[in-house]
Formats: sequence, structure tokens, C-alpha cells
Amino acid sequence: MSVAPISAAERVQHKRRYLMCRPEHFTVSYSINPWMEPANPTDTALAVRQWQKLYDTYLELGHEVELIDPLPGLPDMVYTANGGFVIDGVFYAPRFRFEERQGEEPAFIAWARENGFEVVEPEFTNEGEGDFLLAGDVILAGRGFRSTDDSHREIARIFDREVVSLTLVDPRFYHLDTALSVLDPVVEPGQTPTIAYLPGAFDEASRAELERRFPDAILVADADGAVFGLNSASDGRNVFISPRATGFEAQLRERGYNPVLVDLSELLLGGGGIKCCTLELRGGAR
Ligand code: ARG
Repeated sequence: MSVAPISAAERVQHKRRYLMCRPEHFTVSYSINPWMEPANPTDTALAVRQWQKLYDTYLELGHEVELIDPLPGLPDMVYTANGGFVIDGVFYAPRFRFEERQGEEPAFIAWARENGFEVVEPEFTNEGEGDFLLAGDVILAGRGFRSTDDSHREIARIFDREVVSLTLVDPRFYHLDTALSVLDPVVEPGQTPTIAYLPGAFDEASRAELERRFPDAILVADADGAVFGLNSASDGRNVFISPRATGFEAQLRERGYNPVLVDLSELLLGGGGIKCCTLELRGGAR
């Protein structure tokens, strides 16, 4: 017996509010993940153009995008997903694993305070929404490369939610948002959102946990994962993905989502894609 797939018309868009940072100072001058090769040239103007396309696309589809000023000497600041984790106006600030990015911490904290968020300064190493993804009632949390187990306990306490720790094992997929994507940003209480993930990025126990909690998940092929296909943003209907993730694109269509293709190839040289450049702002003053 086959179940009729949900059509795109039935998927509803939920307007999002995002924080982004124009990559005016983007370059690869150090290496803190396997994608970064300081010897290879980067084209900052191209990075800005590609980023602008993402920004414009969000606005065209009705989303709201806030901007934080890029700072010289902080080339990774464009990856705002690492700048915090925000639910109900509470902004859990980051504490970066590597010194190269620690200068971003005061900038994100200041931005959050100036914009009316209640900032909670962390005690433990964590890289914000790069490793923490809200999936319905629970928070999925990555560990293994950047955010620590202590930070998982800290967010459970701060947000008073169940935190599901997932262990990343492949250094190319060092943040949770490079290996897993939540496709339904808003669900009814108790409902489970659709997620997509790259099974090979997780250890066995984490894969079993994901299978148990998300039996309907989209399992993405290695080829799509390797082009950062999972590093995507979704409003529940439109899913913003890399044009290179053609298999994932087809899987999304089958499930009734509308893939929106945005190429951030230049930003991939720093080890980031669409989701890395996008921090969700949930709640808080405007
Ligand atoms: N060069 C940055 C780093 O290694 C890339 C961050 C990507 N961000 C993300 N949310 N996955 O920290």
C-alpha cells in the first residue's frame, strides 16, 4: 500500500527571522576544519555576491533578516549560526572552541543586548546553532568536535527542554548543522518535525536514536552531504539548499517541499554553507 505524498500546496510556510553578517572580511587565513586551506585563494567579492543572493532570496520570500556588522580580522563572522542559540527571546551566547573565533563572542553578545534579547553568557564551549537545532519540543545537540557535553547540560537547564546529544564522527561534518537539517521549523506541541540527515556523520548509537525518534526522516546520500546539502534552512515549505545537492533536491520534492537553490561555493572554502550563514531569531523584541 502506498501513501500519497503530501503535495507542495499542503506545506505551509512559516515566516522566519534571521541574523546574517555580510562577508566583507571573508577569507581563509587559518584552518580549523578540513575544508579550510589557507594556501588556496579566496574571492571576497564573489563571497559577498553569493551571500547577497541568499539574503535577497530570504527577503523575496517574505522573511525578515537582521544584520550584524562584520568586523575586520574575524573572517568567520559570516557564519552567524555559530553566534548564538535563541528561543523565546533568550539568547544563549557562544563560546568558541578555537581562539581564532573567540573575538566574535563580544560582538554577538552586544548585538543581542542592543536588539532586546535576554543574553545568557555560557559557562561552557558551544558554537550556537551550528550544534543546537530545535526539533519540535526537543533540542538536538552535536558533540564530538566543537560543543561540549557540559554545554548540552547547560542548554537543557536554560531552556528547560529535553536535549538529545548526538555524536559526530566525521571531521568534515564537525557541526551538527552540516549533517542534519530540521525541515519543519514550527510544529504543534507534541508533533515531530521532518528532519533530514547524513547517517555516516554519526556514531551508531546516535543513528539508532535518530531512527527511533524520526522514523520518517529523509536519509541523505554521501554525495549530497559532501557538498553541504544538509547545511540548509527551511521555512516549512521552502528549503534553501545548495544546487549541487541534486539527490536531496529530488527527495525534498517527493515530500512536497519546495527546494530553493542558492550557491554559496565560495563560503564552502571556509567550511560553511547556507545554514551556517543563518541564525534563527525566535521571539524577543523587535
Ligand atoms: N570556518 C568556520 C569554523 O570552522 C565555519 C563555521 C561553519 N558554521 C556552521 N554553522 N557549520 O568555525
